[in-house]
Amino acid sequence: MKKILYIDGDGVGPELVAHARRVVDSLVKVEWVQGEAGYATFQKSGTSLPDETVQLAKSSDAILFCAVTTPPNIPDYRSAIVTLRKELDLYANLRPFHSLPNVPAPFPQLNFAIVRENTEGMYSGIEGQKGDRATATRVITKKGSERIARFAFEYARKNGLSKVTIVHKANVLRLTDGLFLNAARTVAAEYPSISCEDALVDSVAMRLVKSPQEFQVIVTTNLFGDILSDESSALIGGLGVAPSGNYGEKHALFEPVHGSAPKYAGRGIANPTGMLLSTAMLIEHLGEKSASEKLGAAIRKCYELGVKTADVGGNAKTGEMVEKIVSLL
Ligand code: NAI
Ligand code: MG
Repeated sequence: MKKILYIDGDGVGPELVAHARRVVDSLVKVEWVQGEAGYATFQKSGTSLPDETVQLAKSSDAILFCAVTTPPNIPDYRSAIVTLRKELDLYANLRPFHSLPNVPAPFPQLNFAIVRENTEGMYSGIEGQKGDRATATRVITKKGSERIARFAFEYARKNGLSKVTIVHKANVLRLTDGLFLNAARTVAAEYPSISCEDALVDSVAMRLVKSPQEFQVIVTTNLFGDILSDESSALIGGLGVAPSGNYGEKHALFEPVHGSAPKYAGRGIANPTGMLLSTAMLIEHLGEKSASEKLGAAIRKCYELGVKTADVGGNAKTGEMVEKIVSLL
């Protein structure tokens, strides 16, 4: 039986992870193990990511995660999820954006994905301060750039897509993004049947608002991918509906794009869709493709029936939406 580590995290995390586990249990048999991480864990134990959680993650077949709170004002505090992605070398963050039925949105039927490099770039964790001057080191490597580009092209190939957009700022960040762009172009040359464009991140931010249907797969560095993916979620209904998978050579972790959404914590009104679509990605990763498709179809059907939370124009509570999805399975 496959072993799944689940991490409740903070804010809306515990409630959404509980719903997601129930959905998994109604589809496939798995063994659950619990790990701790996040701000509540830090307050209890002095660390946001205990070694034990990292070890459990390394010995699991997949990880189900929602979100953690990362307070900006504690010196030396490190985000548990950013650290876990690095510890497990989860270098590829795949974020599909697929329009849902019955959701107010500026464009119909969008279907594109952002592939975000997840272990280096602006989030390398190398910062310094001398008096009133602070710096961050943006690490870009050939290896890191090639493997994320290969992930993006492989994703396009497997899904029958015809275009990949390499997103960078190589006109200003000449060495770091120059290296990223060159490495990604070298990989692109291995995929002659997939067309490849490259574009500056600021213009892509504009095109996502103006004509997002131009994109199929966007591949980019860590910070740009973080920002463009929150922007992209707004095109399909907001952060409540966007899922993601974090993949490495050995491990995989599934989580919604959103954070701990503290304003919704404990109120039973958070949208479970991002969490449950991430759960569908986890189930697919376990090799249960038909169960995963069943879950995706049930979520879409739930929207067709108008059972949806307030953030996407409905009046269902989180629990009512999950109930409906389970009944449709
Ligand atoms: P956030 O993603 O938690 O929330 C931003 C806004 O998005 C919310 O105010 C809400 O309007 C909407 N939203 C988010 N999740 C939703 C849901 N399930 N249903 C409906 N609407 C939803 O980002 P924010 O407020 O910037 O950060 C809150 C905390 O989360 C911070 O401590 C931050 O560090 C952390 N965070 C953690 C992440 C992770 O663990 N992967 C990712 C992003 C933020
Ligand atoms: Mg983010």
